Amino acid sequence: MALSEERAPAPPRHIAIIMDGNGRWAKQRGLPRTAGHAAGAESFRRIANYCRTLGVEYLTVYAFSTENWKRSQDEVQGIMVLLRRYLEEALRDMDKNQVRFRFFGDLSQLSPQLRKLCRDAESRSGVYKVQVNFCLNYGGRDELVRAARRFAQDVAAGKCGPEDLTEERMDSYLYSAGVPDPELIIRPSGEKRLSNFLLWQSAYSEFVFMNVLWPDFMPEHLDEAIEEFHRRNRRFGGT
Ligand code: IPE
Ligand code: IPE
Ligand code: MG
Repeated sequence: MALSEERAPAPPRHIAIIMDGNGRWAKQRGLPRTAGHAAGAESFRRIANYCRTLGVEYLTVYAFSTENWKRSQDEVQGIMVLLRRYLEEALRDMDKNQVRFRFFGDLSQLSPQLRKLCRDAESRSGVYKVQVNFCLNYGGRDELVRAARRFAQDVAAGKCGPEDLTEERMDSYLYSAGVPDPELIIRPSGEKRLSNFLLWQSAYSEFVFMNVLWPDFMPEHLDEAIEEFHRRNRRFGGT
């Protein structure tokens, strides 16, 4: 191991990625958009493995948003098939890959088959090094509305009063309950927006936007984003 690698500061505990640019990657090659999503799935495998070797504890990935249903039926169907294949494979290789899965999003809109795969993956307990939070039919606003409803139900049931809502309690109603906020959020593809990703959790995240399409995203790009993160001066409102 090179000395410089030995001295590299620890990576962030929690990295979140908006896996964007699959469609443009396919277009550049004259391929159907679904081919871009297949290449994107490959990229995810590569980066999840790399995060494990780096010692990243949590990797949150945006795979399908509450707005992505607006796409053609063909594309949505293609994405769902890829997700199913990926999860079947992930369930098989979970112990080897030492990964644990959590799903953030409204799974009730997914097919019963896909929902079952998500539940099976979540309920598997074993030794793991990295927790992957898979955002599937996820929307930050949807997550907040759902949290508000759940709190209102607890108030209506007499379990607590309105004044009991604190930031900590709010956290406990989110899909991400118990997961520390991401220190670093990466968006490849050149777009510079959140697109309804982790609205609450990103309050003090560092953002790194990169001009690479997700299927072309390599471990070196993650290194680059982490280096950029280490150059930032995080103040959290202080001096
Ligand atoms: C991200 O890639 C994958 C999903 C949103 C499901 P896109 O499909 O958004 O790729 P672009 O942005 O059109 O290139
Ligand atoms: C965000 O990408 C959602 C995912 C990567 C899953 P989009 O491609 O849907 O975002 P917009 O439409 O460019 O904002
Ligand atoms: Mg996109």
